[in-house]
This record gives sequence, C-alpha cells and structure tokens, in this order.
Amino acid sequence: MKIKIFVFLLPILLVFNVTNCGTSGSSNTRQTQPLKTIYKDYFLIGNIITPSYLRGEYLDLLTTHYNTVTCENQMKPDALAPAIRGGQYNWAQADNMLNEMAANDILVHGHTLVWHNQTPSWMTEGTAAQVRQNMINHINTVLSHYKGRIFSWDVVNEAVKERINPGENYEDWRNQLRTESGWFKALGADYVELAFRTARAADPDVMLYYNDYNLNNQRKAQVTAAMIEEINNRYKAEGNSRNLIDAIGLQAHYGLTVRIDDVRNTIERFAGLGLKVDISELDVEVRSVGGSSFGTRKDSRLLDTEARQQALVYAQLFNLFKEYKDHITRVTMWGMDDESSWKSMGNPCLFDGDLNPKQAFFAVVDPNRTLRL
Ligand code: XIL
Repeated sequence: MKIKIFVFLLPILLVFNVTNCGTSGSSNTRQTQPLKTIYKDYFLIGNIITPSYLRGEYLDLLTTHYNTVTCENQMKPDALAPAIRGGQYNWAQADNMLNEMAANDILVHGHTLVWHNQTPSWMTEGTAAQVRQNMINHINTVLSHYKGRIFSWDVVNEAVKERINPGENYEDWRNQLRTESGWFKALGADYVELAFRTARAADPDVMLYYNDYNLNNQRKAQVTAAMIEEINNRYKAEGNSRNLIDAIGLQAHYGLTVRIDDVRNTIERFAGLGLKVDISELDVEVRSVGGSSFGTRKDSRLLDTEARQQALVYAQLFNLFKEYKDHITRVTMWGMDDESSWKSMGNPCLFDGDLNPKQAFFAVVDPNRTLRL
C-alpha cells in the first residue's frame, strides 16, 4: 500500500522539484523523497564526512539523504596512529564524528587499516618481524577501540597494481601487487592475508572488505578475484564456514566514458565468489581542467549538455545497482558537492558547489525518468 502511494506521488514530487531547481540550496531537495528512503529496499546510501561537514546545510543534507558514511580521511592510519613510534593514538576527531553519526542513526563504515598511502612511515620500517608486529598492533588497537560501534572495515586498500598489462598471468596475483607499498616491501605478498586474519581474530563480528579502484578493467578484476579466492579457499579449508574476505569495495571513481557492461561484469565476477559487492567511493567526473580533475574550486557550473550526460551515467549505474541489490549492501558517494570533492575540477557529485541538486541528483532519485527524458 505504502509503495503504491509512493509510486503515484513520485512523478508529482519530481515535476515540482525540477521546476524549482536552482533556488535555495538543499531546501529544494526536501521536496523529493530522501535518497535513503527511495533506496531502502535496495541498499544503504552513503557519503563521506570530514569534521567541517558536521554543521549547517551540509549536516542537513547528510542526515536527510544518507544512512551510512565513511570518514574521508579521519580513520586512515596517519590520522589515528601516532606520527612517531611509541606515541599516542589520536581518537578524538574520529570519535567525535562517530558520536555525531550515532546520534543521527547513520552507520559508519571503517576506512582503512592497511594501505600504502596516508600511513606513518615508522609502521613499515624495520625488520620484517617488527613491521609484522606493527601491523598486528595497529589492527588490534583500532578494532578494539571501535568494537561494537563499527561493523565493517576496509582492511586492505589498493594492494593490487593500478594497471595490469595484457598477457600477464592473471592468476599469479602475488606478482601483481604494488611493489611501492611499504607493507609489500617488508612482508611480501603475504601481508594481505595477514591483515585479514588479524582483523578477523581481533573482532569476528566485523565485515572485512578488500577495497580498490580500476576494477572495471577486467584484467585487474581477474587478478583481484584470484587473490581473494585463494585467501578465502585457504581459510575455508581450515574448517571455517565463512569467507575471510567477506566483501569487496568497488571505489567507482568513474568518468563519462564508463562502460556499464564492465561494471556489470565486475559485480558478477565478485558476487560469483560469494562476496558482497559494495560501491564504496562513487563519483562521476565530467571533465578535467588542465589535465586534472583533482583540486578545489567553487565554479562548478556545468554546461547543460554535460550535466545531462553525467545524469545519464548516474541513472544507468543506479539501475544496474538495483538489479544487483541482493549482492550490494551499500552505495557510498565520495563527496557531497562539486566544491568539496577531492575531484572538484571534474564536478563529479550530485550537488553543485552551492549545494543545489544537479541533474545527477534527480537521476539517482528516478533513473528511469532521466533515461526517458
Ligand atoms: C582521498 C581523499 O578524498 C582526499 O581528501 C585525500 O587527500 C586523499 O585520499 N581512494 C581511497 C580514498 O581509498 O581514501 C581516497 O580519498 C580516494 C581514493
């Protein structure tokens, strides 16, 4: 009954909304259903937070539309762990964010424990035994601090090389890991499994994720799948009934040329391994300025044709994600608006720099309507 009323009302709400577009920031999105309500039978809808997002219109948009968040930087090793060996962990900033989210019934996904970036250098320096112990200590410290408060973590982020050359042996994942990682340099390819085993032992209630980008490239997807499958098979051969790596996060930093069939193939490949497949860092950049989409600028006005093209990509993606709702638990956007986004120059978000909803926002609200227009 409820659904019927909603289906009947939605077109009216949308027409009202589109004609009022561009007036007063986030207030005009309140005339649509919140994204989290629209997708409540499909998956959680997320965005990122930083301390400056926790007030005003930002917080309004966040609490209106989203039911899960990831801290953009504040739970990375260089934010939590001491800058020098033996120092104190820094919990205050992230704890404050976690409390604020708990007060708003927003789930926090943990990002990230083991990564080659944003990690204090001492953690990966010293003998192999020391580095191994550093990793174990870090994972144990963080998971015990957040026990009962954070239920899913990116345990390893971006271990596989950015690009895999054609003609490689894609099963041979050990030779396709990033060699620039301090963890790899000290511990070799075994560091990935060590991280997951340590996390499972530290808190068996946490869903453990491997998170990475460029996974639409089927060569990289194949290498990553081989890695996860081998690690999970070994774990289950020991008599464990569940996977060690529960889920994969597809970062989904896309552009207008993203091929929906590649996304589909990637989702199918990982779902076929019995993993949950989450969209962990979605943004769709439109164009780069001077060759880069990184950087911050407020001028986020897109040409109408560009905004429309971007909306079409978002619409196709969300229709695809809906098809795979049984495998996807969370679709998280990496940025609220085109000003604060890490790829600001690419204008990749659902809201513009003044927090007005873009065509992309309405595409997520109702993908089929956008595709029909
Ligand atoms: C990015 C943040 O958005 C930036 O603020 C920071 O300067 C660099 O990291 N993959 C990830 C995220 O897993 O942690 C990255 O976040 C974006 C790419």
